[in-house]
Amino acid sequence: MSDQAERLREMAWTLGVDAAPPAPKRRQGRCKSIAVTSGKGGVGKTTLSLVLGASLARLDKRVLLMDVDLGLANIQILLGIAPKFNIAHVVTGVCAIGDIVVEVAPNMFLAPGASGFEQLSNIDMGRFERLRADFTGLEENYDFLIMDTGAGIGNTVTGFARHADLVLLVMTPDPSSMADAYAMVKVLYEKGNTNVAVVVNMASNEGEGREAFEMLRTMVEKFLKKPIRLYAILVSEREVLRLGRKQLHLAGGEGVNFHRTVSALARRLGGHQSPSAARGGFFSKFFGGAS
Ligand SMILES: Nc1ncnc2c1ncn2[C@@H]1O[C@H](COP(=O)(O)OP(=O)(O)OP(=O)(O)O)[C@@H](O)[C@H]1O
Ligand SMILES: [Mg+2]
Repeated sequence: MSDQAERLREMAWTLGVDAAPPAPKRRQGRCKSIAVTSGKGGVGKTTLSLVLGASLARLDKRVLLMDVDLGLANIQILLGIAPKFNIAHVVTGVCAIGDIVVEVAPNMFLAPGASGFEQLSNIDMGRFERLRADFTGLEENYDFLIMDTGAGIGNTVTGFARHADLVLLVMTPDPSSMADAYAMVKVLYEKGNTNVAVVVNMASNEGEGREAFEMLRTMVEKFLKKPIRLYAILVSEREVLRLGRKQLHLAGGEGVNFHRTVSALARRLGGHQSPSAARGGFFSKFFGGAS
């Protein structure tokens, strides 16, 4: 670590901000990567990433949440924490990835954003290789990597989503959200990732959510000639909004439909082995080390 990095670390300790506790080693299978994405913003990606991560952690899975949304440190805001260092510091060489990861709940760790990955194209080969090794090694400590990718079909978002074992595409029944979801499916399928599952959020009821999904499915089957699956329908609930505003998603959630449904989803995911087991983990693909 450079002198500058050492000084920054010391400063963080003085300010009482813990650098990463050493992440314990993962105990089962290969890390499964999940990209939570959407065509349109404000549809519930960050809330879903957080609640899904917490549900998996409660199932005794080791979870790494990664905020890869450009600009906005979404997960931090929802948790009400302000870590000193983030991925941008890692990419620019100020500190190592292991130095920024913070434990936010038992079994649940956060690699804070805002992204920084967009700076990858500006770094030299030596640092690129070190980052590849660091991120690949980091991933081995976890059962699940959950990436909150931000919205839209831009390269940064799809760059993450295309390599994930599973893409959770969040949409609402709003027609513009549906159109943007279709655009996202199209881009992901073109880039070769068809393991996309749809979560309809903020539906007024189950029926409206299903109808919205069926409209998307009709478009996907008609124009892309490929299937698409529904993973969950989440209804609009005042309590979800309140828990978000009070930064209480990790503490509350009992009796809330959103949390109950996402818990059930986590139980389904928790039992699955990563399909990428034979192909290398997420970061070896992301950094171009494996096809
Ligand atoms: N099922 C729900 N019922 C009610 N409110 C919800 C629900 N899901 C999410 N919200 C609220 O909607 C707002 C947007 O949610 P969130 O920040 O998770 O969306 P996002 O897709 O991550 O947004 P962005 O694209 O800006 O990152 C938040 O205030 C959140 O509390
Ligand atoms: Mg968000």
